[in-house]
Amino acid sequence: EQSIVATLPLHGKNVVVSAGPTYENLDPVRFIGNYSSGKMGFEIAKAAANLGANVTLVAGPSHESVSGYPIERINVVSAKDMYDAMHANFDKADVVVMSAAVADYRPKEMANQKIKKENDDNLVIELVKNPDILKSLGEIKTHQLLVGFALETNNEEEYAKKKLTKKNLDFIVLNSMQDKEAGFQKNTNKITIIDKDLSMQQFDAKSKADVAKDILNVILNKL
Ligand code: CTP
Ligand code: CA
Repeated sequence: EQSIVATLPLHGKNVVVSAGPTYENLDPVRFIGNYSSGKMGFEIAKAAANLGANVTLVAGPSHESVSGYPIERINVVSAKDMYDAMHANFDKADVVVMSAAVADYRPKEMANQKIKKENDDNLVIELVKNPDILKSLGEIKTHQLLVGFALETNNEEEYAKKKLTKKNLDFIVLNSMQDKEAGFQKNTNKITIIDKDLSMQQFDAKSKADVAKDILNVILNKL
């Protein structure tokens, strides 16, 4: 058995994946979140485990499961929690895939008690920017292969290339929102992979499990 495991292509490699949304608390019973299901990141974690990697999955709130897989799952809630978990696991990582839908902003203050309804018909909530986790990893990376995602509604390739460069990534996975098969809460995805040399590879719409395999193939070719 040992020898079979040792022949898997990611045997001995540490792969860290983030997945799902983050929730930013407003008060003890309310949050600002997004519709990310976590499916794409969970499939990437499973595909990496199937190739023999030691996988750490940093997961925001998600109903997805990795039961039956030898995956270390770290549950987080907010972008700040996710930042801490990703940095705690970065040194030992060979590959980092940031597929989480991180909230760009959080409420400036988290109320300790439930916010009460007032007489005024309008409520203004002040938000402050969250740290850019991927960019912060790109700034300190040494040997790690760093992979990001981009979700765009317009000027897709131009914006994705900007993110690739700004965050010092090895490649970026552009999720096409243009395609009705793709996106949040769907089982399928249509991606374009843009390499740091800016070459592009387009893939057909397929199940998120198969998209994960395509992404892992690109990773394997780069290791
Ligand atoms: N990301 C991150 N930390 C954040 C925001 C985003 O690590 N605070 C990561 C995402 O996980 C993704 C990549 O950065 O891998 C791109 O995320 P995206 O939301 O597409 O881009 P942003 O840089 O946040 O820019 P914008 O939302 O304005 O397009
Ligand atoms: Ca964003």
